[in-house]
Amino acid sequence: MSRSPIRRPPASLDLSKVFRVVDQLPELLTSESMFDNTKPLEMEVGSGKGLFMATASVENPRHNFVGIEINNKCAEHAAGRLARTEACNAIMISGDAEPLFNERVPAGSLEAVHVYFPDPWWKKKQRKRRVLNERSILNFSKALRPGGRLHVWTDVLDYFEETVEIIAEIAPELGVPIPEEEIEAQHDLDYRTHFERRSRRYRIPVYRVRYEKRSNA
Ligand SMILES: C[S@@+](CC[C@H](N)C(=O)[O-])C[C@H]1O[C@@H](n2cnc3c(N)ncnc32)[C@H](O)[C@@H]1O
Repeated sequence: MSRSPIRRPPASLDLSKVFRVVDQLPELLTSESMFDNTKPLEMEVGSGKGLFMATASVENPRHNFVGIEINNKCAEHAAGRLARTEACNAIMISGDAEPLFNERVPAGSLEAVHVYFPDPWWKKKQRKRRVLNERSILNFSKALRPGGRLHVWTDVLDYFEETVEIIAEIAPELGVPIPEEEIEAQHDLDYRTHFERRSRRYRIPVYRVRYEKRSNA
């Protein structure tokens, strides 16, 4: 299956409000430090071309959104999408989510963490590169406020099952997986992410769940 090429946005597009590299980040990633307000903060890990970031930030102006994308070209492309929507509640970070969640996201601070179609890393010896692993799940759970959400969507059944098992074992405070429904698309970009669009085009099943951190956790 071919993937369409990722283009950097034109130099004429001003990314200064919507794009950061790790060196430009504040010590702690919070709404106060990044947006100068106290709106609830949602983070996406592995934003790809940034469709979720662009639609979610327009649909939810009362929340802030931070996307973390390790591929610089994708991060810039996604930031370009945000710049075109003139978002003032969304920022793309070009960098690795793991150290940022390890060190710079305060405990109990996030409204939601979104992980859509993480790279599967099929080979056994590459699996440690998966963005959903024991350490990241503990980090996500710790970062969420009580009642906060973790959304996990993938088209890789074994990755999905392994993630559900890990969460049940090491992060029971996240509760049980709540299925999220497939919604019929009303137009060509009416998908949560580009990978969801691609999965539907090729009729690949997608496993969609969210967790809601228990309020007494
Ligand atoms: C298969 S793509 C899915 C992109 C998007 N979520 C979607 O559904 O269209 C996975 C993305 O995760 C990014 N990624 C992988 N490891 C990452 C990490 N440690 N931190 C941030 N992004 C990461 C990849 O560069 C890639 O863009």
